[in-house]
Amino acid sequence: MKVASLALCLLYTAGSLVQAAPTHNNTEAEATKQLNKWQKQYDQYIKASLKTRQTGCTNDNIVKRAEWGSLSAGERKNYIKAVQCLTTKPAKISKSEAPGARSRFDDWDAVHIKLTNNVHFSGLFLHFHRYFLWLYEKALQDECGYKGTQPYWDWTLSWQDPSKSTVFDGSDTSMGSNGKYIPNRNGTAISAFGLHAVIPPATGGGCVYSGPFQNHSVNLGPVAYAPYGPDGGLGYYPRCLARDLAPGFSNQTKPSDVVHVIRDTDDLYTFDDVFEGLTGVHAGGHFQMGGTGIDAFASPGDPAFYLHHAQVDRVWTLWQDLKPEERRNQVFGTSTAFNNPPSANITLDTEVDFDVLAPKKKISDLVSTVDGPFCYQYV
Ligand code: CU
Ligand code: CU
Repeated sequence: MKVASLALCLLYTAGSLVQAAPTHNNTEAEATKQLNKWQKQYDQYIKASLKTRQTGCTNDNIVKRAEWGSLSAGERKNYIKAVQCLTTKPAKISKSEAPGARSRFDDWDAVHIKLTNNVHFSGLFLHFHRYFLWLYEKALQDECGYKGTQPYWDWTLSWQDPSKSTVFDGSDTSMGSNGKYIPNRNGTAISAFGLHAVIPPATGGGCVYSGPFQNHSVNLGPVAYAPYGPDGGLGYYPRCLARDLAPGFSNQTKPSDVVHVIRDTDDLYTFDDVFEGLTGVHAGGHFQMGGTGIDAFASPGDPAFYLHHAQVDRVWTLWQDLKPEERRNQVFGTSTAFNNPPSANITLDTEVDFDVLAPKKKISDLVSTVDGPFCYQYV
């Protein structure tokens, strides 16, 4: 059922690309209001639910993850510095597991590549990425002296033109610019999980040319598109960070699209299906970055991946905490993409693998951002 809906999704995606951006300013302004309302409701819930706590995660020790553009210039520079630091620390993954990994930054990319077929289009998607991201934030703090938290990229702020986003504007306080424009390109044929799509060329296509990460070396992949990297993407294939900012896909992460996924789904299976499908906001975030970011396996090679996935986690958190009693402990599906090959049903006791990044974690430890290892909230 899911596969069929994805095939349809691909057609819709292709269709939406040829339409000019309609004038939905009113709709989007209303949707933004709705999102702000939910954000406020969520803030109040967190505050109230932690009020009675004396130990563990409390209102005194909870940390806040903020939108990139709301951070001061100094805070953004500190984050950038910490990411660059991670690219200079030696990899911990073994040479036999990932011969191409050169740095701690690459460890996350390598583990993502290895586990891609288990943690996408499966019941592990949301939980895996939540902890994957938290471990990255922790490495920035513990191994690179970062004092801040993981920022998020609210795609709804720049859906009309991602190049205007504070994340991609190419300034010293961005995550680097678009890729250099390369004219007369063909689309990029991507394949993963038995799905195939052609991503049309957009406004960049080449290497990031201004702001931080101009000299960032992407060492692993590609896996989802040619020219394929050696050793199934785990071999050494150093190249520039490529981007291709695409308004055709940022049109898929409008405020109303986020409202749709939160309002029109009431169980985790449906939420994940709408959220993760190729016309959903998760894919929309990846596809609008283009370049390194569209590789379902090696997309964590782009440092902006983590800002995107913080927003992914934020939207899931908002959805969960609007009805926390019913939603936090929901699980669905199995631990293989489209259950191919078939694997056991996920339960709260299922242990999730993080390879060299951390010992396995039970799903029950990953269901709430204020329990288990976590104590953070989105502001
Ligand atoms: Cu992923
Ligand atoms: Cu993703």
